[in-house]
Amino acid sequence: MIITEELINLIEQAKGNLGLRDYLPGLYEPIRYTLSAGGKRIRPLLTLASCQACGVNPEEAINQAWAIEMFHNFTLLHDDVMDRAETRRNRPTVHIKWNEATAILSGDTMLTLATQLLARCPDEKLPELLRLFNSTAIKIYEGQQMDMDFEVRNDVRVEEYLEMIRLKTAVLLSCACETGAIMAHAADTTRQALSEWAENVGLAFQLQDDYLDTFGDAETFGKTPGGDILNDKKTWLLITAEAEAPDEIRPLLGGERSQAKIDAVTEVYRKLNLPARIHRLIDSYTVKANEALADANISPRARDWFINLTASLSERKS
Ligand code: IPE
Ligand code: IPE
Ligand code: MG
Ligand code: MG
Ligand code: MG
Repeated sequence: MIITEELINLIEQAKGNLGLRDYLPGLYEPIRYTLSAGGKRIRPLLTLASCQACGVNPEEAINQAWAIEMFHNFTLLHDDVMDRAETRRNRPTVHIKWNEATAILSGDTMLTLATQLLARCPDEKLPELLRLFNSTAIKIYEGQQMDMDFEVRNDVRVEEYLEMIRLKTAVLLSCACETGAIMAHAADTTRQALSEWAENVGLAFQLQDDYLDTFGDAETFGKTPGGDILNDKKTWLLITAEAEAPDEIRPLLGGERSQAKIDAVTEVYRKLNLPARIHRLIDSYTVKANEALADANISPRARDWFINLTASLSERKS
């Protein structure tokens, strides 16, 4: 039986064995700072749960789980520079607490530590793990570039937005599940089913992140709210508001990064009932996710664990 708390404990206990060195604090301290600030650990949880669901002791996949969590944290250091974000996990971001050069170099180090962790595996598994990891990483960079390109465009279509969030966010959740399946020698159909579940959960996850960026509680969410609005991020909220209330939204785009702008855009979103409407969209992806589980050769109890996680992630507040 998959027990979330046990898997999270396994993840936290392994934190002392990640290859972080004790010297050169300018490089390693920001990494420790980042990894000690919490975070939900969703991705390593998915790797361990997938491994266990496919019939193998989750401890077998602990290094690969941490490879993915380390990679995720690397993307956050660089993302916070790109997004000019000042808080994460209720703390100053690395580029604010230190500087941008530190965020770049400590981030680079985390990327390489991630590949070292991934390679702590039986030789015959390494090529497949690396192929998946590298193709996922490239997709994430592509998604991040699209995210930035969209900031200065006013004609982004919903389909383009969905492709962008699939690349920047959903593929890493798929990679986390597939990595667990590979470590457990799972059949291709099961690996594929878990991957499809994760991709749909990932789309719902980023939609919820975008919702929380405007409507979340700052303390619970851990990031300064309104950042997406200040950056003119083409979220589903903004794209829909541009389509349905262009005369109200257009004059608010570009220009000054102010609380007045955040308030005015938020007001338009509320008037269009976007908080309720984005949750209907989120629900449609959670349904799709759970349907994909039908093809996974896992026990009914394991399936229930994935279904429960789908629900709790789509209702998350942090
Ligand atoms: C943040 O991911 C980046 C997104 C893809 C939205 P999480 O919400 O999983 O961040 P942590 O790791 O729990 O802080
Ligand atoms: C982040 O998307 C995706 C990646 C880091 C690859 P966001 O920019 O929305 O993530 P947060 O909100 O800063 O965590
Ligand atoms: Mg971003
Ligand atoms: Mg960001
Ligand atoms: Mg966000």
